[in-house]
Amino acid sequence: MAKIRYFSKSTDDKLIADEKKINNADFINIGNPISVYRDGVEQTLSSMYLKITTLVDFLTISLKSLQSNKRFTIAYYGCGNGSNARQILRLVNSINNKISLRVVYIDVSSELLYEADRRSNFMKLNSNIDFDWELVQIDLSDASSISKFTDNNVGNFNFSFSVKCFHNTFIKINRDIARMISLCSSKDSVFLNQFYGHNLYSSFKQLIKLIIGKRYSNSIYLDRVLANLYPKYNGFDLQYRVTSMSMSEVFKSNHFKRLSIESYYLKK
Ligand SMILES: C[S@@+](CC[C@H](N)C(=O)[O-])C[C@H]1O[C@@H](n2cnc3c(N)ncnc32)[C@H](O)[C@@H]1O
Repeated sequence: MAKIRYFSKSTDDKLIADEKKINNADFINIGNPISVYRDGVEQTLSSMYLKITTLVDFLTISLKSLQSNKRFTIAYYGCGNGSNARQILRLVNSINNKISLRVVYIDVSSELLYEADRRSNFMKLNSNIDFDWELVQIDLSDASSISKFTDNNVGNFNFSFSVKCFHNTFIKINRDIARMISLCSSKDSVFLNQFYGHNLYSSFKQLIKLIIGKRYSNSIYLDRVLANLYPKYNGFDLQYRVTSMSMSEVFKSNHFKRLSIESYYLKK
């Protein structure tokens, strides 16, 4: 079993596998009970909430940031069981199977990191892809942990991404987060941020929480505007942004498909 590098151990100690506690903790919001992420099936390309042809284009661009003798490093912020990173690993390998790869799994929950570790071991045994991985525990709402993590990873990542973490938990793209992602990215690398949006009623509820000083999980319009500005002032160029709406899902519970937002940034 790989070792976890801890940046916010005291928070992790509070995240025990008791599903009620993990979701009721007033400072962390992981979305669903932890079992949903721990036990969820491994993604396939078609089940990922990402446009695959666009993703392949940006992975190809990010390959230019790879320096000789280094591993192409993919950082996954808020990784859960890490499934999306392993699909991206496969895609990079299908573009260029000569390079060595690394995944950095980043999450607040060591239980989910151990699950990512278990599944990575399984993939390693059952594929010919040359890759290794690191497990990083961090509370991304804690500025001092972010700063320590950044100091440890300056310029290390060739492709960093987040799916359903920034803007769908209490963590929004703010100045500290944008700075961390940028400083940890190597020149010409790519950052992808995917999250889902909400209907007017839900946005109104989040706004009320903001006004009364409570943390809120899903983004409001202002968060999305800031999510473009902070990366811009921290060395990123927004290259591509797409909002997908599925009218057929409007009355169904699948909010991921109802309104999904994908943004790609290039590190200058
Ligand atoms: C909605 S889940 C998405 C998981 C995964 N990205 C996926 O698509 O299946 C949000 C993830 O963000 C992590 N998370 C929530 N708050 C966090 C925090 N303060 N710091 C780091 N990770 C956090 C949760 O543990 C969880 O794995």
